[in-house]
Amino acid sequence: MDKFRIRGGNPIKGRVSISGAKNSALPCMAAAILTSETITLHNMPYVRDIITMRRLLEDIGATVLTPELRTHKISAAQVELMAAPYELVKTMRASVLALGPLLARFGKARVSLPGGCAIGARPIDLHLASLAKLGAEVFLEAGDVVARVPRDGLIGAEIHFDKVSVTGTENLMMAATLARGKTTIHNAAREPEIADLAELLNKMGARVRGAGTATIQVEGVAALGSAEHSIIPDRIETGTFIAAGAITNGELEIKDCRPEHLSAVISKLREVGVEIEEVNQSTLYVRCSERGLKASDLGTEPYPGFPTDMQAQFMTLMTQAQGRSIITETIFENRFMHASELQRMGARIQISRDQAIVDGPDKLIGARVQASDLRASASLVLAGLIAKGETQIDRVYHIDRGYEKIEAKLKEVGADIDRVRESVTAPLAPVGLDAVVA
Ligand code: EPZ
Repeated sequence: MDKFRIRGGNPIKGRVSISGAKNSALPCMAAAILTSETITLHNMPYVRDIITMRRLLEDIGATVLTPELRTHKISAAQVELMAAPYELVKTMRASVLALGPLLARFGKARVSLPGGCAIGARPIDLHLASLAKLGAEVFLEAGDVVARVPRDGLIGAEIHFDKVSVTGTENLMMAATLARGKTTIHNAAREPEIADLAELLNKMGARVRGAGTATIQVEGVAALGSAEHSIIPDRIETGTFIAAGAITNGELEIKDCRPEHLSAVISKLREVGVEIEEVNQSTLYVRCSERGLKASDLGTEPYPGFPTDMQAQFMTLMTQAQGRSIITETIFENRFMHASELQRMGARIQISRDQAIVDGPDKLIGARVQASDLRASASLVLAGLIAKGETQIDRVYHIDRGYEKIEAKLKEVGADIDRVRESVTAPLAPVGLDAVVA
């Protein structure tokens, strides 16, 4: 398994380009199932989850061509298997996004229950309940969700989500495009990725209104056709690089981003002392103020609030801030696993239920740490960039799921970071905690 080796202390200086958003690319790939014609997607991120979704599409019989690395041409004309198997779904829960499209186009679907993951139970009860309200017959069989549509197909309905669900909203919105009549989705998720998916669906001939707001209306149509679409920039990668520029006391120009998609992150980071200039609609300029960082409390919220996917990165930043920060994670029940690894690097963090109490600033010391989930990995990279000595991060396949070549992008702007591919790694140079012990 690949590892990262980081030698801390270099300020991040220069220019970085943001890749397409993984969490928009995934539902847009699933949307290709809704039509027999070809969907062309541009600005696709080169990350593991996209490769997994490609495998799922090919396994069901679709063809995926990549005329160039970041363009996918998907044709679901020859789909024979309406199923997403356990081995795919267990590696990527977003495979559940095949459920709504398969049901809407073919009237049946079998998708393995995703099961939990590192950050929580991750149920899909809201997905299933909303599809049932469109008339689908949904039941569980041997760990799979089996869904069938009665002879007269899915019928539009008024749907109220008890809880905001990003992929739940996406699954339902896609299924509703081919349902008979009108569907109204109340308490819909408002993430930019939902509006991006709706833009693709409307290019395919769907009639979706209100995506990006809490109420989405879908007028069903008989069939959808081909379309071409460019994926929005990744707002979480953008936020991660803002944190990298700030925490290393560097100066970073971030290009090909969409500042309007992360205004809650930008205002919070400005509040703690990060100087962020919105140069234009696709460029940010970042540096840390001379006064350094100051502590601040944070609660994660559904969009447009501060995103849970930036919570771990914010925690690392607060280990360098003057004072006490209380971070409350309201979306997932187990999203503080990065805290114990940061503690091993010298951070003062106390966890109690859904709250992390961070006291700073602390000099972090390089150590051998382990990534546990996608965003926790990013927080450990940020810590390694400033830690004294060398940090080794194991299991970086987690970070490869959602960040395109993060070590190459960081190296470009001055970080001392390498990817180590060998299975056995030489012991750490005795500078970190080991040195203290020795
Ligand atoms: C999406 O996950 C993202 N993934 C996640 O990004 C992101 O953290 C999350 O939204 C929240 O913003 C993709 O878009 C592929 P939810 P999703 O359904 O849709 C509960 C990353 O790092 N819930 O909005 O799975 C759920 O347990 C990933 O890129 C139910 O109870 O999240 C959670 O507590 C991690 N029943 C809350 O709702 C359901 O049927 C929000 O989950 C569905 C969700």
